[in-house]
Amino acid sequence: MATMTKVATTPATATAAADAEYYLPADAFFRANLPTALTFDDVSLATLYSEILPKDADTSTTLSDALRLSIPIISSDMDTVTESRMAIAMALNGGLGLIHYNMPAAEQVKEVARVKRHIHGLIQDPITVAANQHIAGVLSMIEQHRYGFQTFPVVDDRGHLIGLLPGSIVKERYKAKKITEAMTPRAKLITVKERDLGKDPIKFADKFFSDNIGINKMLVVDAQDRLRGLVTSTDVERLVSEVKSRRKPARDPEFRLVVGAALSTIRQPNGELDRDKILGHVGQLVAEHVDCVAVSTAHGHTAGVGEVVRLVRSQFKDLTIIAGNVTSASGVEFLAGCGANAIKIGQGPGSICTTRIVAGVGIPQLTALHVSSSAAKKKGVKLLADGGITKSGDIVKALTLADAVICGGLLAGCREAPGEIMEISGKIYKQYRGMGSLAAMKAGSAARYGHSANDSTRKVAAEGIEALKEVSGSVDDVLSTLVGGVQSGMGYLGAANLSELRTKARYIRISPAGQKEAAPHDVVEVSTRTSSS
Ligand code: XMP
Repeated sequence: MATMTKVATTPATATAAADAEYYLPADAFFRANLPTALTFDDVSLATLYSEILPKDADTSTTLSDALRLSIPIISSDMDTVTESRMAIAMALNGGLGLIHYNMPAAEQVKEVARVKRHIHGLIQDPITVAANQHIAGVLSMIEQHRYGFQTFPVVDDRGHLIGLLPGSIVKERYKAKKITEAMTPRAKLITVKERDLGKDPIKFADKFFSDNIGINKMLVVDAQDRLRGLVTSTDVERLVSEVKSRRKPARDPEFRLVVGAALSTIRQPNGELDRDKILGHVGQLVAEHVDCVAVSTAHGHTAGVGEVVRLVRSQFKDLTIIAGNVTSASGVEFLAGCGANAIKIGQGPGSICTTRIVAGVGIPQLTALHVSSSAAKKKGVKLLADGGITKSGDIVKALTLADAVICGGLLAGCREAPGEIMEISGKIYKQYRGMGSLAAMKAGSAARYGHSANDSTRKVAAEGIEALKEVSGSVDDVLSTLVGGVQSGMGYLGAANLSELRTKARYIRISPAGQKEAAPHDVVEVSTRTSSS
């Protein structure tokens, strides 16, 4: 007892007590600030003794037992942010893209397939062509599906390999030629037997390409010579170099890039949930190996969203389900109870959102995250901080309370984002619009805001705006700046990983003068910073 008293009065402890009086952990801090709700720019994080170099801070996170990311950043399921091109770039950088639903269901399934087929080890269902097709047909198939490759195995109607159509022939000039005239015939192809692949097809393929100079497609066949898979040398080279690189792409156990797809709460004309359509669509996404679905709405603590989550969970036991959006502990508890693995937090913080102005509801983002986090812990679900993030420091603050962040505006200016590019007074901009804007709701997202796109009898209230973002380069550049900032924040707090960041975080409220002090001030800035730094 006496020893304990002595330790409590040592100078080091006294100093720590002084820190503890000013810099509070989450629960004490947010309670002390009641009844005011706070967001990113209202607070700053206190530094702590650190042995962590930013470059060594581990940014990996999980959204469920099955879905792990190397970086805690997700691109938003918005029609000016995430289609397959963005999702591929996100996953290659270790994050995740959620493909939006403002497109026909079949098109969304194709978008998912594009990501899953992008680069992986053994492509088990390669796209093939038939011998009686013409090159013109192959060209239009590539255009229609936006394939990023041009070499195709040729098979007969029972799947037997009969040749390989080289990419060098798939050109306009040869469009009238028949595939049989242009393909390399079966007899000239070097193939491998499926049973010889062993447990590590990439290692096998790496050796195959080293042994067979000039060959860059490894075709795998079964005992009856039916095509069973394909491995390309460029994929293998990328995968081998990935093993050595620090930032690991986010891949599923079969080496495919990970991807998610947003789901709408589709209803029948009588207002009932269209259960068959929803389940049919999810079934197709799962058949293409989608890694998660996101039931994305503006108000997730509702009977309708709960019903969709329960429905999907009842049929797809192992599928990772994201649902939202909510800003309360009871909202998190409700969606977790329905079967969601990860819950989106955010009502009205987004850069294009007008929910708080139009509907008068919504909670500043850090308080919303803190209130929700107690229920998430209790229920064992993950939290995703969705919206309002404008710089890497916001991500660090969000990650003290959440498992990952969802970004729209920060990524909408990237060349991988869909949307028109336009030039205004010499500057290049990209379209960025809220999914609750009138234009986006007309294109399909009305259900997200509880409206019907076909409802011509009354005007719906838009909860988002149409805007422009200055074009900001590639996703690689934007993400490396953002992740660098996150790692710096972790270094300042002595956090080796995101779980330590959450337990170590201590907050202080800042005044408008403190905010001014935080940004460059009283200098003429020579701008070399990117928009994300
Ligand atoms: P940021 O700030 O990253 O926010 O641009 C993206 C997030 O905003 C949400 N979102 C909307 N919220 N009206 C809203 O109130 C809208 O029209 C709208 N569109 C998107 C969504 O959660 C997204 O991830």
